[in-house]
Amino acid sequence: MNYEQIMQLALERGFYFPSCEIYSDAPAGFWEYGPSGTSLKNKFIELWRRELVRRDKMWEIDGSQIMSQSVFVASGHLASFADPVIVCQKCKSIFRADKLIAEVSSITIPESADLDQFDKTVAEKNIKCPKCKGNFDKAKKFNMMFRVGIGPQDEPAYLRPETCQSIFVDFPRLYKTMRGKLPIGVAQIGKSFRNEISPRQSLLRLREFYQAEIEVFCNPNRLDDMERFSEVENTILRIMVDDIIRPMTCKEAYETKTVPNKLVAYYLGLLAEFYQKTGIDTTKSRFRKLGEKEKAFYASVAFDFEVETTTGWLELVACNYRSDYDLTSHGNVSKEKFEVLDDNVKVLPHVFELSMGIDRSLYTILEHSFREDKENERVVLSLKPYLAPVHVGVLSLVKKDGLAEKTEEIFSKIRTRYDAFLDHSGAIGRRYRRLDEVGAPFAVTVDHQTLQDDTVTVRMRDSMNQERIKASDLDLYIARSVAFP
Ligand code: GLY
Repeated sequence: MNYEQIMQLALERGFYFPSCEIYSDAPAGFWEYGPSGTSLKNKFIELWRRELVRRDKMWEIDGSQIMSQSVFVASGHLASFADPVIVCQKCKSIFRADKLIAEVSSITIPESADLDQFDKTVAEKNIKCPKCKGNFDKAKKFNMMFRVGIGPQDEPAYLRPETCQSIFVDFPRLYKTMRGKLPIGVAQIGKSFRNEISPRQSLLRLREFYQAEIEVFCNPNRLDDMERFSEVENTILRIMVDDIIRPMTCKEAYETKTVPNKLVAYYLGLLAEFYQKTGIDTTKSRFRKLGEKEKAFYASVAFDFEVETTTGWLELVACNYRSDYDLTSHGNVSKEKFEVLDDNVKVLPHVFELSMGIDRSLYTILEHSFREDKENERVVLSLKPYLAPVHVGVLSLVKKDGLAEKTEEIFSKIRTRYDAFLDHSGAIGRRYRRLDEVGAPFAVTVDHQTLQDDTVTVRMRDSMNQERIKASDLDLYIARSVAFP
């Protein structure tokens, strides 16, 4: 179960593949989800809605992907959302300064470090262009937003680099029309766009990607008044303290001040519980507090939720305490009022966010669910049944003797309620194996006995055990098996 195996599975079983792949000018960093990937993604999103949005009574919105220049003047992205790059004087190749230095010298310099730190290391370590051995110009910043021109006047606007900006901009209207009360979470799923210098490894660093973001607006004077905290107080957070992962309950994390307040501890607890339900091996996860130089420019405290994969530790969620950074900035630029009344006291809310990368989460689910069953010469994707792209395979043992017709009759009774896959062709063993590879939790087979007593065989993906059930019980059987927790 390494990156290459997942890549092969993704390409061969319709999970994901490169965008514009039939053209030689296909840009790097753009990938498409096929039917299996789309189905997995939709179910992951449904789980996120259930376990975070609905559980915490958040509001979900769906904002525009293109936003005005003023938004990004206010947010600071025009000035600060930039990566350090170095350009070869000879062949003009461009590299991310921090990445190239790490690759060739194993020295880690945070991307937000001062530019002269990169220059110093390039000089000290005598780092040359890997392509032509040329010298580098001084490091400079490259803004990662995609600019777009609106209408015939080509008015400047940008593809959003994070979905949350519409949540901030919309906050005054939302709070009023939805009759808000702090703390309140506002959530959004959608695409974000970053002109990455070095997109790489398919879903792991994309230029167009899915985020599921939650912005919790809260009263900064009442961060320890979290009524719902008892729901998660015994939930385990695996937090890095002094470079060691120390599992502790949310209550301990709060009481020892490992996390700054009850509100943050509560939302980290919700997040940890959510990921337990995705099938990711959470014993390989950690919350890592970021250092001053590592944090995004808008964050005052930041924890990354990271999971270990064969590609290394992957950041799946950025948990940022953004304080009043966004609402103050949007208030200043737009002149809109962002203060609200909280128990009759006027307050400018602070924001704590859970910014989830969906694509990386899906990759991690695939990698952690993938296993080779050498004894039975098969590959199995042991996905949680509620996340499986195909809930059930419906197979005829053979096509003849009326079995194909009976199979189709059974299939047509369930196909609008579940993701069912009808398959008549090829050896039954091969058909089971294909279903195992897309993670279908079970397959139903129609055989000659079905014609006599209206029973079908159910074959389990993980154990390969089989049992017979009445065809008329199938609907209920599937409903129970694939229900969300
Ligand atoms: N909104 C935070 C991020 O996109 O990382």
